Amino acid sequence: MKRVLSGLQPSGQLHLGNYAGAIKQFIAMQDDHEMFVFVASYHALTSARDADELRANIRQVVVDYLAFGLDPKKTNIYLQQDVPQVTELAWLLSCVCPKHMMDKATSFKDKTAKGLAASIGLYTYPILQAADILSVDPDLVPVGEDQRQHIEITRDLAQKFNHHFASEEDPVFKIPDAMIRTDSGAVVPGIDGQKMSKSYNNGIDPFMDEKPLRKRIMKIVSDSTPVDQPKDPDCDTTYQIFTALVGKDDERAAVLRDKYVNPPADGFGYGHAKQALFELILDEFGEARKRRIDLMNDAGYVEEVLKDGAAAASERVAAVTARARAAAGL
Ligand code: ADP
Ligand code: TRP
Repeated sequence: MKRVLSGLQPSGQLHLGNYAGAIKQFIAMQDDHEMFVFVASYHALTSARDADELRANIRQVVVDYLAFGLDPKKTNIYLQQDVPQVTELAWLLSCVCPKHMMDKATSFKDKTAKGLAASIGLYTYPILQAADILSVDPDLVPVGEDQRQHIEITRDLAQKFNHHFASEEDPVFKIPDAMIRTDSGAVVPGIDGQKMSKSYNNGIDPFMDEKPLRKRIMKIVSDSTPVDQPKDPDCDTTYQIFTALVGKDDERAAVLRDKYVNPPADGFGYGHAKQALFELILDEFGEARKRRIDLMNDAGYVEEVLKDGAAAASERVAAVTARARAAAGL
């Protein structure tokens, strides 16, 4: 069985982009893969400055993982800080990481351009991500398109470490592959048409109460084509979000597409498309929304899940760390 690792930062409420780009894949894989899904809490410290808020966000990501449908019987769910050896691995990897590799990383440039403090933690963030990944010897890392470069850096660092400290026949680190959606869900746009992101305040949170959720969806950008005129679905943000959730080939997407292209006699406007998206979200996430309310009232269960997840991850991480230390001469 192939092993999978991935994680999300607890830097704010999750949104449909996180779901379509990452979590949906985790759920689809958990029946026939050995799964490690964690909460990247150390990574969130590159931006978080309010301890109470971070504490709450960390728990919320776990609750949301479970609500969306990650099953702790099939997926080891854990917090990064419960497996602190990853920071030791990050150090070992940083010692074989040429500085220019970090200089070339685009996320540091993007995030500082957006106003995030240019800390050393933010600068070396991809090395910690490489440690997270390599620490459990995964075969596959399912992530959104924006994480492609980080997986390439991970592979490079693993190869460099193996080159310096191990033989080809007996490597320290396994070289994992990225698994990235290339279909309509690859990059989900936010309500402003830019990439949906926690930090752009353009997200749609599928767990919002119905009224504010509908209001939020009605705010999605659209052009001013009148209701009786045909519209190009491929240029419309609402349609892109819709297909990111169900896939382009889904019957519901085909029905919606047809209404854009051949509006019925009484017209079809963007408001109708947004209403269809609103109804789809209530339909797709109905169960998840109910589960989430129960989970929010069962902190004991959430802690138990995390304890089991940390135990399983720690066992793997300890073995990999011991291997890396010994190979390096420690
Ligand atoms: P954010 O940009 O909201 O802070 P993260 O960087 O924490 O999101 O991303 C968590 C996971 O969700 C990553 O695998 C990322 O690629 C994926 N993801 C985030 N935003 C989107 C999006 N708009 N479309 C597709 N996938 C996304
Ligand atoms: N950098 C990822 C993001 O912003 C989060 C992350 C940290 C991650 N460590 C990881 C994702 C390891 C996959 C594997 O979304």
